[in-house]
Amino acid sequence: MDFTIKTRECVDQIPPYVPGKPIEEVQRELGITSVIKMASNENPLGPSTEVRQALAQNLDKIGYYPDANVFYLKEALAKELDVDPDMIVFGNGSDDVNKVLGETLLNPEDEVIIAQPTFSQYEYITLLMGAKPVFIRSEHLGHDLSAMLEAVTSKTKLVFICNPNNPTGTIVRKDELTRFLTELPKGITVVIDEAYGEFVTDPDFLSGLECLKMGFTNVVVYRTFSKIYGLAGLRLGYAIANPVLIEQMNRVREPFNVNLLAQTAGIAALNSKMHLTLSKELVKAGRSYFYEQLDAMGVKYLPTQANFILIHCGKDSRSIYEFLLQNGIIVRATHSFGLPEYIRVTFGTAEQNERFFKVFKQAVNAEMD
Ligand SMILES: Cc1ncc(COP(=O)(O)O)c(C=O)c1O
Repeated sequence: MDFTIKTRECVDQIPPYVPGKPIEEVQRELGITSVIKMASNENPLGPSTEVRQALAQNLDKIGYYPDANVFYLKEALAKELDVDPDMIVFGNGSDDVNKVLGETLLNPEDEVIIAQPTFSQYEYITLLMGAKPVFIRSEHLGHDLSAMLEAVTSKTKLVFICNPNNPTGTIVRKDELTRFLTELPKGITVVIDEAYGEFVTDPDFLSGLECLKMGFTNVVVYRTFSKIYGLAGLRLGYAIANPVLIEQMNRVREPFNVNLLAQTAGIAALNSKMHLTLSKELVKAGRSYFYEQLDAMGVKYLPTQANFILIHCGKDSRSIYEFLLQNGIIVRATHSFGLPEYIRVTFGTAEQNERFFKVFKQAVNAEMD
């Protein structure tokens, strides 16, 4: 087809996002109804009862635009985090917050330091802005903060730390993080993405918020309501940072980037303490169960601080992924992370976890035949 419009050069550099299969599509293809998704690190409990009620009560309001300042949710969250409301900016998921930060900070030619493997959106925003990603692969598949520090040049503008990291579930240690922040030259922004922060049980974890409170004013913390709060489909995330940067980000973001129901749900989610506790417990139980089962099978994995686990299949994981899919279990093949021998599995309910292992064992046995 004749098409002569020339898009920005950087767009060609962006790898297309490969979405996982939706449950409904797999159900339709396989002709079965009992499909489970353990692929996108969502909460298998879904949203809390409080959130469901708040949504039902506010449906009539969606004829109006949402509050562009996200006033009530911001107030509630600021109180919860013990920070000033002007240190918070919300977005249509933390993906949106990430895009706004990139648009606020990055000029073409700026360098951005990104661990490998990690979440794809850091590379995306870097390339979108015409900036240069500098990838630092770590031996242990987490973050090698020393190597990341060594990679700093006069062009470095931004560093991404995903803590816990997606897809590995690893964390950076307290002293590693404070050393890194102390030694980093001034003027470089450090994103600490804590999409999975609520699931961490390791006492050697230091939150980005603590770093901000310790005086590392160049830190930007990303958090989301998509994971532990069970609101992935509503799209709600936020950043906590220095008010000067937040003010600049507010100029860049779209005025109505947080929809009305997401704002309502966010407030109710913050008040759903029991749901939070149950969700954390579920993940803890999932972790122990997976460790136990994988150890018994002699299958290697990375110990995880998140609500998912990276499992080493020993060879290309495509066939195991397909076998699971054919049996109604959607997991994440990690080829796009540069990890073709792994799958990433989100912990489900106890019943879902058991079903996963029933099929996974068949898949592994079929591989060995
Ligand atoms: C590390 C990390 N950050 C951010 C996100 C995106 O979160 P949100 O749904 O708030 O856009 C994800 C989602 O998978 C993630 O893994």
